Formats: sequence, structure tokens, C-alpha cells
Amino acid sequence: MQVLPHILVFDSGAGGLSVAKEILRKIPNCHMSYAADDAFYPYGIKEDRVLTQRIITQVGKLYEALKPDIVVVACNTASTLALETLRGKFDCPFVGVVPAIKPAALLSESKVIAVLATPATVSRIYTHNLIKDYAPEHKVILHGSNILVEIAERKLFSNDIDQRLLQKEFDTLFAEPNAEQIDTLVLACTHFPLLKQEIMAITTQRKRSINLIDSGEAIARRVWDLLDKPQANEIQNLKKITREIKIILTQTDDLSTAKKSRFLAYLTSKPNTD
Ligand code: DGL
Repeated sequence: MQVLPHILVFDSGAGGLSVAKEILRKIPNCHMSYAADDAFYPYGIKEDRVLTQRIITQVGKLYEALKPDIVVVACNTASTLALETLRGKFDCPFVGVVPAIKPAALLSESKVIAVLATPATVSRIYTHNLIKDYAPEHKVILHGSNILVEIAERKLFSNDIDQRLLQKEFDTLFAEPNAEQIDTLVLACTHFPLLKQEIMAITTQRKRSINLIDSGEAIARRVWDLLDKPQANEIQNLKKITREIKIILTQTDDLSTAKKSRFLAYLTSKPNTD
């Protein structure tokens, strides 16, 4: 009997759902485990050494328990820090999410790019090397924000958005030198695509036409490329297997059950009802 591939998607919280959803759209016939290390959330303000240890331990436990075919580290903060170490430790393919500076540099006509990420990601050598390698001629404005992560996380649970706080973050970004020339904005934290509509509304208000780049679709394509493909005669049988989507949280409290239902609802909702 053939089996569906099992994909493990890992993040600190709700952000990786934006990536997981793109994976399910591209690869509907798969089992998915979505793991959020919410007991250690947020990652973006933690110290590198402590965070590396935490990620390796948590991914290690998940790997042993689930034996996935592929692991997606759906977190820029974790990938820019620990992806290479994880690849060296576990015997399956790892796909990471890192700031999409290369596509942004290719797309930008004004040669002024903004990168929105967590405070940790903007400070990483990995991120600065991406800029050196792929956007050496560009002006790259790095904006690290934990508040945006919190706004996104809250939106997912209560649909409640603090517009004033959101606006303030963008006021700070657009007050940077050369910011009026930004034509491409990289959402370099997987939480931020959850705020795509709100971010587009703010940039439109400012009468700017700005390309928003998030990595979800590219990651889904990469995962698809890495999976063993079924033979043509196996496809019909695979379609008969019901996929399973499992949510795993590291925090157990009164809210966990509601949180798991909310995550699942997001993953199984139609794209335009997010
Ligand atoms: N979603 C994560 C990222 O892409 C980090 C959010 C956090 O700070 O925990 O960087």
C-alpha cells in the first residue's frame, strides 16, 4: 500500500501556518504535523545560544516521535540561526525559510528594499550576508519588530487588530532615510503574511505601489520538488487516503484546545476566508 508523505512544519507560534497553508495548497495529498513551540514564543527576542539549544531539542523530540519525511522550519528567526546544525543532525531533508532578499533585489526598480523581520533576524550575520551577496547595490532598510509578531498572533486568535500600534510600526519604517523610494517589502517573518491585507492597506493609503514578498509559495514549491513523486498509476489510490493534519503545541494550558482548533480551522479554511 502506498502512503502519503508526512511533512512536519515547525515554528514558535502561529506564523508558520502561513507557510503550512501554502504547502497544503500545493500538496493536498500529504499528512501534516504543525508544531508550535509556543511555550518558548516569541523566538525573535531570545538570546542566540539559548534559542539554538531550544530549537535543536524541540525539533529532535518531534523528529523522534513523528519520523517525518521532510521538516520545514517555517521560521526565519530559527532558520537563520539553526538550519545548518539541524541538517547535520537529522537524517531527512530540511527546508528553511530565510529572508527573500534575492527575489526582492531582482524585482526592485528603485533599488530601495525594506525587510521586515524579528529583531533577531535583522541582527543575524546570515541576513547581512544575504544582503552582501544578492543586494550589494541596493539600499536595504532593515526593520526588526516584535510588536508586529504579537499583532499577527493576536489577529489569528481573536481577529482583533490594534491599528494604532500597526500604524506606528510603519510610521517608524517610513521615517527612515530613503524610505519614500521603497518599492519592495520583504515579509521576513512568517507571522507577517497573516497581516498581508492590513499591510497592503497601509502602503496603499500612503499611495505607494509596493511589492510585498513572502516566501510561502516558494517554500511549498521547494517541498514539492524534494518529495518522492508517486507513479501515474498510484495517484488515484493515494487520493483515496484521507490526509491527517495534526497540531502540536509545547504549551499546555486552558487555552491549548481552543488554540489547536483555531490553527486547524486556519489550515483547512479556503484561502479567501483567512
Ligand atoms: N515566525 C517567526 C519568524 O519567522 C518568529 C516569530 C517569533 O518571534 O517567535 O521569524
